[in-house]
Amino acid sequence: MNLTVIDHPLARHYLTILRDENTQPEAFRSAARSLTYALVLEATKALPVDEVDVTTPMEQTTGHRIHDVVAIAVLRAGLGMLDAVLDMIPGCKVGFAGVQRDESTATPMEYYAKLPDLANATVLVLEPMLATGGSLSWAVEKAKSSGAKDITALCVVTAPEGVARMGEEHEDVPIIAAALDRDLNDKWYIQPGLGDMGDRLFGTL
Ligand code: URA
Repeated sequence: MNLTVIDHPLARHYLTILRDENTQPEAFRSAARSLTYALVLEATKALPVDEVDVTTPMEQTTGHRIHDVVAIAVLRAGLGMLDAVLDMIPGCKVGFAGVQRDESTATPMEYYAKLPDLANATVLVLEPMLATGGSLSWAVEKAKSSGAKDITALCVVTAPEGVARMGEEHEDVPIIAAALDRDLNDKWYIQPGLGDMGDRLFGTL
């Protein structure tokens, strides 16, 4: 299983705000952003860096610079994680993968895709709710067909079904998440989960 569940008090704190049914969209968006900072730190632990010379007010020394990071936000819930990624990696390029699930079969249906060239990029796919795994697997497939070789998925909550599917279809893609929940209900929502992430972010309940 290529899953890392981050274990940090701040992550648990913000996840609890997200889970709480009384959290309103403004606070929900803020908690999603704060939690994503922790996911990005874990997901970028092995990010390639170039050595550079840097002159401090005292002397010259060696520094490091990151390069070629691309975030792919899976629409629309992935937008709730994007600002945090851009705060931490302002030079990052951004792709969008629009997928909607067919509510009767949970099959992902593409409605939009716009990705930059990914051949030399470190790609972070932002898919907060890994339920059946259909949307994430589809987004990763899209990224691979645009040349991506180094892909990490960032999720807020995962379900065993989605993690298993990613293991079968994209074993090479590590998943960084804040939680591995119990299971899915009969409408493919994660339990205990946090409900519909997109609706809660954007107040469309
Ligand atoms: N998408 C969501 O927003 N929530 C779930 O529980 C599953 C998929």
